[in-house]
Amino acid sequence: MVDIHTHILPALDDGADSMEEAVTMAQMAFDDGIGHIVATPHHHWVPIPLKEMKSKVAALQASIDKAGIDIKIHTGHEVHLYRQTLLDLQRKHICSLAGGSYLLVEPDFYNYDDATDAILEELFDRGFKLVMAHPERILPLIGNFHKIEWFVERGGLVQLTAKSLYPNAQPNILEASIELLQNDMAHIIASDMHGESYRPAGLTQARDIAAKWVGEKKARAMVNDTPLEVINN
Ligand SMILES: [Fe+2]
Repeated sequence: MVDIHTHILPALDDGADSMEEAVTMAQMAFDDGIGHIVATPHHHWVPIPLKEMKSKVAALQASIDKAGIDIKIHTGHEVHLYRQTLLDLQRKHICSLAGGSYLLVEPDFYNYDDATDAILEELFDRGFKLVMAHPERILPLIGNFHKIEWFVERGGLVQLTAKSLYPNAQPNILEASIELLQNDMAHIIASDMHGESYRPAGLTQARDIAAKWVGEKKARAMVNDTPLEVINN
């Protein structure tokens, strides 16, 4: 499986605290059946260019290889949508997923307005392909997914967070996830793992739960084929 949303790079944002924890997270991901991980620190916390990101990923890869864990780590960012996003892009402080044409974009948790749509439109116009991170956790979108129908119609992909589907998820988040699945508005499941105990990988369990709503074939695509296409694009 391919996990395109993680905070595994150590000591950068609110993700892994140390290299040791990052390696433990990789081991947990491997045990879950994951072979590729995209490191996506919050871009506005860690505004670094691709060259620097590559060296951080290489250091983590070396530690993972040394531990004998068969996982490939890729560069990336979780791109926060706010008034400075386009400026950050211009400054080359934003890394695409695995260096390709996809950006992982995250709307603000409390505010989704016309300005958010305008940034998304501008990114599409510039030729980027987009994956929207966990709309089921974005308060102004819950119950209002008609607001992102245009995004999906324009080819945008929607990423659910694995834990949003677990039986112990907050009821409103679980309900929102099921609504997205039932309306064919969810394309990828990712862990958004932040630590060995904070949202660790668990794509297998989430895939199996999603299968109840969309069938096994589509659920498998959400953790295999579709995220693989994203990192190969
Ligand atoms: Fe995240």
